[in-house]
Amino acid sequence: MSNSTWVNKQISNFNKTITVPGDKSLSIRWVLFSSIAKGKSKAFNLLLSEDVLAAINAIKKLGINIKLNKKNCTIIGNGIDGYKYKKNITINAKNSGTLGRLIMGILIDTPYEIKIIGDESLSKRDFTRIAEPLNKFGAKIKLKKKGLPLTINGIKNLRPIRYLENRGSAQCKSSVIFAGLKTQGKTFIKAKKSRNHTELLCKYLDLPIKVRNTKNYDLIEIQKVKKIKPLNYKIPSDISSAAFFIVLTALSNNSKLLIKNVNINPSRIGIITILKKMGVKIKFKNKQTYKGEVVADIFVNSSKKLKAINCPSKLNSGAIDEFLIIFLVAAKAHGTSYFKNISELNQKESPRLKWGSKILTEIGIKTIVTNSSIKIFGNPNLKVNKKIIIKNYLKDHRVFMTSVIAALAFGGNWNIHDKVSIKTSFPTFLKIVNDLAKKG
Ligand code: S3P
Repeated sequence: MSNSTWVNKQISNFNKTITVPGDKSLSIRWVLFSSIAKGKSKAFNLLLSEDVLAAINAIKKLGINIKLNKKNCTIIGNGIDGYKYKKNITINAKNSGTLGRLIMGILIDTPYEIKIIGDESLSKRDFTRIAEPLNKFGAKIKLKKKGLPLTINGIKNLRPIRYLENRGSAQCKSSVIFAGLKTQGKTFIKAKKSRNHTELLCKYLDLPIKVRNTKNYDLIEIQKVKKIKPLNYKIPSDISSAAFFIVLTALSNNSKLLIKNVNINPSRIGIITILKKMGVKIKFKNKQTYKGEVVADIFVNSSKKLKAINCPSKLNSGAIDEFLIIFLVAAKAHGTSYFKNISELNQKESPRLKWGSKILTEIGIKTIVTNSSIKIFGNPNLKVNKKIIIKNYLKDHRVFMTSVIAALAFGGNWNIHDKVSIKTSFPTFLKIVNDLAKKG
């Protein structure tokens, strides 16, 4: 794949139906749960991206049998204690925080030291947030500075913990849930609201979990599980991938888009609530429940007038992966938008608050950024005419895709490096862009 993409033409109006690939969070969780289930699990529409392939390779290294073809994926698990541990295993989580962090909870009782490594971006990210609670169970996790590589030495007799998850991180919460499923006694988690796919899968699988929802926190109790039944799953499409095309439609003239069968779990649709408040017309159609998750088609219209937003912090966790693309809507809105308490954005694949403001500055939009907030001074007549180069952004897939959408929506002559980044979450992104750009 050539490493750069050039975009030098605004997209003209479209009226189309698209499908985006399977949800990344659910795909990785399906791989992990199936790997510790007893028997044969099958998934359809599994996201075939590098993050998910890294999860598949990880469990293969741990002795789990997998068959993958274009239509489906089968995993034959050996039960909750079924990994074949041996000396000198290294798991390469590549770019995936979800894989690197969640699998640590499962590896908590490894009898041999296991090393976890990742790519340049993942190695820089904070793993103390996982090591601290897992060490309380009795494991010994050693980190290089705060990140990767790290090593895990497990223990057999894990001690249950009480854990306060205060960042709104589903990865931290999920890692501790996995560890709790291996620990005798009751593990308690008080977790600030974040995506709840792990809890929903536990409930669907009848695992010993209790969840009580309060206003800002979820109270979770987990106990040791003896057996996990296999999990057949049709993975719905990823709202975080749909987000790029929802925004492209909102910013284009006279366009309409239907995106089929998207996971609209209430803990993931912050972007929809935010965009609606900004004046974007979005409707859910054919809403259904599938194995605890909510799925629907998303219909969106281009917007004549966009309003600035003072974004309520309670919407942050449900939109955590979508802020870069939301900032483009704020760039074209009437008035000044304000997003606060989003320091977690700088803990992602790249420091995204910084990159969001950088892209906006490039397109002539004034911003005021702090470590945890951004003010965006919108310009409803925004039109870009200059040459823009986007590079050295740690190959953050969402920086790449946001830049492409900005180019298509606002114009300019863009050279966006590291196209390869889309392989981590959305390998067919550019194909869908080309299909939308085609007439008819
Ligand atoms: C994810 C949780 C979020 C999100 C990431 C996927 C998950 O990370 O940003 O892309 O699947 O649990 P944090 O837990 O760090 O907020």
